[in-house]
Amino acid sequence: MTDPGKESEGNEGALTGAPGGKRFSHAPVLLNEAIDFLAIKRGGTYVDATLGLGGHSSAIATLLGPEGRLIGFDKDTNALEMARKRLTAPEGRQQDWPEITLHHASYAEMAELVAPGSADGVLADLGVSSMQFDDASRGFSFQAEGPLDMRMNPHAELSADQVVNQFDESNLADLIYEFGEERRSRRIARAIVRARPIKSTAHLAQVVSAAARPMNQPRGKGIHPATLTFQAIRIYVNRELEDLRALLKAAPTVVKPGGRLVVISFHSLEDRMVKDAMRDGVRDEVWQPLTKKPVIATDEETAENSRARSAKLRAATRLEVRGRGRKK
Ligand SMILES: C[S@@+](CC[C@H](N)C(=O)[O-])C[C@H]1O[C@@H](n2cnc3c(N)ncnc32)[C@H](O)[C@@H]1O
Repeated sequence: MTDPGKESEGNEGALTGAPGGKRFSHAPVLLNEAIDFLAIKRGGTYVDATLGLGGHSSAIATLLGPEGRLIGFDKDTNALEMARKRLTAPEGRQQDWPEITLHHASYAEMAELVAPGSADGVLADLGVSSMQFDDASRGFSFQAEGPLDMRMNPHAELSADQVVNQFDESNLADLIYEFGEERRSRRIARAIVRARPIKSTAHLAQVVSAAARPMNQPRGKGIHPATLTFQAIRIYVNRELEDLRALLKAAPTVVKPGGRLVVISFHSLEDRMVKDAMRDGVRDEVWQPLTKKPVIATDEETAENSRARSAKLRAATRLEVRGRGRKK
């Protein structure tokens, strides 16, 4: 079994040199499992749809050799900068390092930016990175005082501020329900509209908590009452489900027969889409699933990395194309 965690030692753990001189700790989730399911071939071409801090990518890069190619995507310019640094050939390995191409783009554009049938594997580790989440100035966390931003792409037009302070009550309730699966969406939307202007993440968390905390749930029990509302706004602002739909549609075109698709998701909306796409892929003779049930992190990993707790990995192999457009 490959042990990329070991191979990329020295690149792991706390990362320094993040934009703004900030310091973030980041451990790639389900790293060994992802690498094993990708079945990395030396000399192959792999797409990391979600570079983040380059944790999975740096492990992939160490296995590709000089004939190999790694193509990475991220919407976030800060993440790209970090990943670029991390994916520079280490001292003494320049001759053995793959070609690296990084795109500041959504993985929804994969079909336009990666040649059809060229990838031996595509990895997507969905959602927000620890760098984004832990940086209060990005506005993803309800536990810190920050601006209402939540944009993964800092150049995107729509931010959480517009959603929270400008959307009408019924649109707000609908999106909190659809993307947060929050049963108390109407009550929360009403409270948000009444409390406008909402100035910060902490202010939003306080308004939502007051509206959403069930009378019989004591403080400190269960998930934070603002969790689902923050999730919903983030998913909406970043078009996360539309982008995932486009990625899942493009994957059979981009991955060559025998190649792999590996997706790590963090909430049920994402996981359902991945599961459905793989199920439809079986029907259409496009994918052969490698995971009957999603793979989850070990107790050891979740003890070390709380983000791994909700991770679910699904993987599939691209089937051969037979005859004129027929698959086998
Ligand atoms: C969970 S992190 C990936 C962490 C990465 N696997 C690592 O080991 O460092 C997800 C990353 O995907 C990026 N992302 C999310 N949605 C995206 C999309 N539609 N297109 C491109 N990047 C996206 C986020 O900006 C974030 O940096």
